[in-house]
Amino acid sequence: MKKLVFLTGAGISAESGITTFRDSGGLWEQYPVEAVASIQGYYRDPALVIQFYNERRRQLKSVEPNKAHQLVAALEKNYDVCVVTQNVDNLHERAGSHRIIHLHGELIKATSTENPNDPSQVVTLADDEDIHIGDKAKDGSQLRPFIVWFGEAVPMIEPAAEAVSEADIVVVIGTSLNVYPAAGLLGYARRDADIYLIDPSPNNVPGYLPVHIIAKKATEGMQELYDKLTCKG
Ligand code: OAD
Repeated sequence: MKKLVFLTGAGISAESGITTFRDSGGLWEQYPVEAVASIQGYYRDPALVIQFYNERRRQLKSVEPNKAHQLVAALEKNYDVCVVTQNVDNLHERAGSHRIIHLHGELIKATSTENPNDPSQVVTLADDEDIHIGDKAKDGSQLRPFIVWFGEAVPMIEPAAEAVSEADIVVVIGTSLNVYPAAGLLGYARRDADIYLIDPSPNNVPGYLPVHIIAKKATEGMQELYDKLTCKG
C-alpha cells in the first residue's frame, strides 16, 4: 500500500464549527495568544489558561467531524494513512482515523506542570471533567492542559518528520503554515512525493516544491482529492 500522510490544521475543523486562529474573526483576535497559548502566559496566570482550555474542551461536545475528516479516515481502505495534525480537537479520532500524531497536544488530556512530556504523567480526562487550580498530577505538581504552548518543545515533531519523509503522497489541509516546527514538515517530503494543498486561501506554500493547490474548503477539496486518489475522478 502507498503511504499517505495528511498534515492538518485548524481549517479542516472550521466546517465543524471550530474557529480557526488567524483568519479574520479567528481565536487570536479574541484572545491574546501570549496570554493563553504560551508557557510564559501559563506561569503568569494559570487559572486563566486552564479556564481557556476547559472552555475549548467543553466545545468538543457540541461539534462533529465533517466530511473532510471522514474522507481522510475512509482513505485507510486504499492507503497506509498517517494523520499529522496541529489540531488539539479529537475530530480525526471521532471520524475513525487510526494513526494520528498530535503535534500540539490534545484537549481531552491533562499532564503535569513539572514534567509535561513524561508519558506516565499524561491522563485522559473524563467527559465533562474540567481542570481546576489545585488538581494534582501524578507527580504532585499542578495538573495542566496537555497542550504544547509557544515557547515549549514539540516532542512529536520527530515521528511526524519520519512519517512525511516516507510518504508517497502528502496532503496539507487548512493550515496557514505559520507555526514552526510544524510548518517545516513539508521540507522532509521526498522529491518524488505527490504534494497537495487544500485551503480556500493558500498561503506560505513553499515555492521550491511542486505543490498541487486545491483552493477550496476542506470538505469540497477532500471530496475532489478522494475521487482522484480512488480513481473515481
Ligand atoms: P490558522 O488559523 O493559522 O490557519 C487556518 C488555515 O485554514 C488558513 O490557511 C485558512 O485559509 C484555512 N481555512 C479556513 N477555513 C477553511 C476551510 N473551511 N477549509 C480548509 N481550510 C480553511 O491555523 P493553523 O495553521 O492550524 O497552535 O495554526 C497553527 C497553530 O497556531 C495551531 O495549532 C495553534 C495556533 O497558535 C498552538 O496553539 C500552539
